[in-house]
Amino acid sequence: MPSMSANNFSRNSHQHHPNQTKGDFFARKQKIEQQRKNLPIAAVERRLVEEVRNNDTLIIVGETGSGKTTQIPQYLFKGGFCRDGGIIGITQPRRVAAITVAKRVSEECGVPLGQKVGYAIRFEDVTSGLTKIKYMTDGLLLREALLDPYLSKYSVIIVDEAHERTIHTDVLLGLLKNVQKARSKCISEAVNTDHNNSNNGHASEGRIDNQNDGILKPCQAKKYHPLKLIIMSASLDARVFSEYFGGARAVHVQGRQFPVDIFYTHKPETDCIDAALITIFQIHLEEGPGDILVFLTGQEEIESVERLIHERLRQLPECNRKLLTFPIYSSLPSEKQMKVFMPSPAGYRKVILATNIAETSVTIPGIKYVVDPGLVKARTYDPKMGVDSLIIVTTSKAQALQRSGRAGREGPGKCYRLYQESFFEKLTDSTLPEIKRCDLSNVVLQLKALGIDDVINFDFIEKPDRTAIVNSLWSLYLLGAVTEENKLSDVGYQMAKLPLDPVYSKALIVASQFGCLKEMLICVAMLSVESIFYAPREKLEESRNALKSFASPDGDHLTLLNVYRAADEFFQKNKTVNSEEKAEKNLRKWCKDNYINSRSLKHARDIHSQILRNVEQMGLRVTSCEDDMLLFRRCLAASFFLKAAMKQPDGVYRVTLSGLIVQIHPSSVLFRAKPECIIFNELVHTNHSYVRNVSRIDYLWLIELAPHLYALQD
Ligand code: CDP
Ligand code: MG
Repeated sequence: MPSMSANNFSRNSHQHHPNQTKGDFFARKQKIEQQRKNLPIAAVERRLVEEVRNNDTLIIVGETGSGKTTQIPQYLFKGGFCRDGGIIGITQPRRVAAITVAKRVSEECGVPLGQKVGYAIRFEDVTSGLTKIKYMTDGLLLREALLDPYLSKYSVIIVDEAHERTIHTDVLLGLLKNVQKARSKCISEAVNTDHNNSNNGHASEGRIDNQNDGILKPCQAKKYHPLKLIIMSASLDARVFSEYFGGARAVHVQGRQFPVDIFYTHKPETDCIDAALITIFQIHLEEGPGDILVFLTGQEEIESVERLIHERLRQLPECNRKLLTFPIYSSLPSEKQMKVFMPSPAGYRKVILATNIAETSVTIPGIKYVVDPGLVKARTYDPKMGVDSLIIVTTSKAQALQRSGRAGREGPGKCYRLYQESFFEKLTDSTLPEIKRCDLSNVVLQLKALGIDDVINFDFIEKPDRTAIVNSLWSLYLLGAVTEENKLSDVGYQMAKLPLDPVYSKALIVASQFGCLKEMLICVAMLSVESIFYAPREKLEESRNALKSFASPDGDHLTLLNVYRAADEFFQKNKTVNSEEKAEKNLRKWCKDNYINSRSLKHARDIHSQILRNVEQMGLRVTSCEDDMLLFRRCLAASFFLKAAMKQPDGVYRVTLSGLIVQIHPSSVLFRAKPECIIFNELVHTNHSYVRNVSRIDYLWLIELAPHLYALQD
């Protein structure tokens, strides 16, 4: 095995700090320049720009870390692709990637974020009129297409991480194919009109009107330039993309990959957290310098591993404690996300605890060891039950290879797979595209709003299950979003404009009719964030008591409303005597005292202000039902009637539509009360099927408020 001398991993201790000196600034600038020059992709800059010039659609395949995401947009900018006023858009499947990469690239360009380089994700837009390089989530670009079907402000669109095959990426690929065709048609027609009628000074505005087959109608506007499309992927198999785009050219960017030794366990591991911990400490105490990357399934697991690492560190002699932990997952605030990119102080080892975001989406320098338990949290969908859930599954072989590859970026590395070698052989080759395993209501609604009525025959890169589409159409019909003729209704169009799940969008519209939109906005914002309540294991009793002061006997929706209102009241009162900043700080303290997750609450407040703006723009009436909670609960029933359940003699619940047997989740305020009839928002599967975010309703309300579904039943 090759031995690494310590100075191969010598750490530069200087960090980007707000109060850095001028000297620091130039040193960092120089270092970044050096790093950019050293990236494998730098050697082929000119060739890549030529390829893009010569091909309207180009597939670029390259190993993770070669510099695709950060460099290619800059090369294209330099190469003149923004010259006629168009901008370069780069989509990412994950929010964290969009944010961290935009930050990095703005720094590389030496400009403040939001000017030349910016990012936009749902509920947050850090771009301006100056922005030329825009990172965004794939879902966000889909929404932009609703307002601007030709995506006319983009001269180049790069679909990054296409190998991930998220549902949004798949839909986007189909859409972009149409947009590209329509835009070239525009241009050829504009040229023809110019020839035929050369004194026609300005072409008419392009009419935005889609035909049923989803091909945008040609227009005469000249403002549309040809669209350059680039599909980037870390998986070496470019064939599927190339075929989909009519034999588009694919180029391969050589990465730098050092050998990685793979280790397997001798026997199956039963406790993967414990196995990960043992491995982390084994590496820390026995192996040479180099940082450790551990793949975990989600925030909760990351937090508990982090806590356990610190516990065990305290038991070690002082000299062995030089281990720093850095979590990275999607909902982590962005200042914390950026920390993983900082080099650790001299003599310290970093352990990065990451979700599969670190598989390909973000590249963290300095990794020499990878710990891979072989698990990932994935969406699954049961079309028969209509249940969409997040469960933990084993990775595919392709994922395992990507993960181990992370150890060999800067030198030879080691990867510890926490399973047996025979188990690896049993893994599937690659992951099933998300479109084949999730609820499609949102996608179907979006496509319909884009004018694509025949969703079943849409040119998907891979066709979703027909039953899944039919089921989505059925639930959209029940929500009133599509008509009996299978056309988008006015309500459906309104729903599509909101950046929310169709059910939540519908709830806002229903609430405006009930006169309780003010309350529903809060409720939907709170339901859109993860874990508002903070219940650390060692303070379970205290946190339960804190919850009691907000708990409503009518259920979780009203409880969430109470929390938000109490926090808001506290904040507004505080603001009258303090600065905004101080009030924010006091609010964080208030959260801590009340066992509320301040980050989640902040997120909910941000979502609230955005969707408030959305509904105001739509012209919905934002009124309050004040203290009439009966009215609000009736509105909940009218909104969430698709997910209702009745208590059975033995105390479990039967979901009215699917017949599925479920229990109320222990985190619900109704866990003990067990009312006769409930509506709920979420179904989670662990060892049982649990429903979360539950409210008590009266079954008769369902018959009255959703007669199209319930009056028929009995
Ligand atoms: O897209 P690809 O995986 O090919 O590479 P990239 O994301 O463009 O990253 C290229 C290099 O930039 C990485 O190896 C990191 O060293 C560096 N980088 C960074 O330091 N900080 C970031 N936020 C992103 C990238
Ligand atoms: Mg990348």
